Amino acid sequence: MRKIVINGGKRLRGEVTISGAKNSVVALIPAIILAEEPVILDGVPDISDVESLKDIMEMMGAKIKHEGETLEIDPRGIKSMPMPYGKINSLRASYYFMGSLLGRFGEARVGLPGGCDLGPRPIDLHIKGFEALGAKVEYEDGAMHLKANHQGTKGAYIFMDLVSVGATINVMLAAVKAKGKTVIENAAREPEIIDVATLLNNMGAKIRGAGTNEIRIEGVEHLSGTRHMVIPDRIEAGTYISLAAAIGDGVKIDNVIYEHLESFIAKLQEMGVEMTIREDSIYVYPSQTLKMVDIKTYHYPGFATDLQQPITPLLLTSIGYGKIQDTIYEKRINHVPELARMGANIEVKSNTIYMQGPNELTGTDVVATDLRAGASLVLAGLIASGETTIHNIEFILRGYSDIIEKLQGLGADIRIVEGKASQI
Ligand code: EPZ
Repeated sequence: MRKIVINGGKRLRGEVTISGAKNSVVALIPAIILAEEPVILDGVPDISDVESLKDIMEMMGAKIKHEGETLEIDPRGIKSMPMPYGKINSLRASYYFMGSLLGRFGEARVGLPGGCDLGPRPIDLHIKGFEALGAKVEYEDGAMHLKANHQGTKGAYIFMDLVSVGATINVMLAAVKAKGKTVIENAAREPEIIDVATLLNNMGAKIRGAGTNEIRIEGVEHLSGTRHMVIPDRIEAGTYISLAAAIGDGVKIDNVIYEHLESFIAKLQEMGVEMTIREDSIYVYPSQTLKMVDIKTYHYPGFATDLQQPITPLLLTSIGYGKIQDTIYEKRINHVPELARMGANIEVKSNTIYMQGPNELTGTDVVATDLRAGASLVLAGLIASGETTIHNIEFILRGYSDIIEKLQGLGADIRIVEGKASQI
């Protein structure tokens, strides 16, 4: 199993460019099934989730050309068929194939999604949306079978009991070719939803209100090809900004949309982090003493749940008492014991993470349990003195494009080594 080895305690400086958003591209690729001509995506991140989705699309009959950050997908050869298993399970976002196959063929057979262990991750709201659009949904031998009647899906009024990014996008995918009007109330407002709606509208869909809590869709007959630039990854950006604030001597983060990170930036400013914010970049100055803060995660535009783990190593370097409450995933705490083993004064009590800083972190062997937990361990290893070895790094490579090269470019002593299966 491959491992990441870090020789920590070094100051970092220079520039890093943020790649396209993982949580956008994992929906954009399945959405291309709805097109009747080839679609080109620019700014595609180099992450294993993209490779998995390419494999699945090719197994279904799509033709794919991938050069650098440009991915061209010709969906015309895709057949309505049960989704290939295997790849499906490693990828929670495989559920987007339900919405896009239902939208194109009126039928879909998709294995249940996998993904990070963040506690229960139901898809009941996705199913509720598909049923409202007229699909019968059955669960048979580990897969969901969705089938609309012979007239295909029809527009509906759907109120989302919970704010859900995945359910909002999935219902959008199933509704763009449904007959008539669909309204999604209590929709999630994340930037990735706007990105998917932008792609679909450029293909000829009629979606209004993406990014607000009410999305209106007029069904259309045909969707054509287009070319689309993936939005920058706000979670990758927040990860590098946290690192720059912790051990940077002047780091410029390029390809950032400030509006996507307002609540995160506000927290850093509350800590005393000095930044210059420009049109599409953020310059982070060396930090002196930083103040510990409390964090409560919310749906966009609140503080992103995906950033509570990556910001934690920075919090641990700051002075005072702080706590983190993740209102979206209460069980998003698997990084805490690993950080404690590095000497951090951090613990979980009734689903709240409590910290006291500052902390002198010491390198040791740690295990990544999910994508953003892994990111927090990378940052902690870079901050810590001594050597840190991170196991189960496939989680990290799922969501962070060229992370080793980007960190080496900032002066980090970090590398991937081939190792025996993890002993710990
Ligand atoms: C997306 O997951 C992101 N993943 C997650 O990022 C992110 O943490 C999450 O949104 C934030 O809301 C992708 O976009 C691929 P949800 P998603 O549906 O869509 C509950 C990362 O690290 N819920 O918004 O699966 C659910 O249990 C990943 O990049 C239902 O109850 O999240 C959760 O508590 C991790 N029923 C809450 O809603 C449903 O049918 C929000 O989930 C759907 C969701």
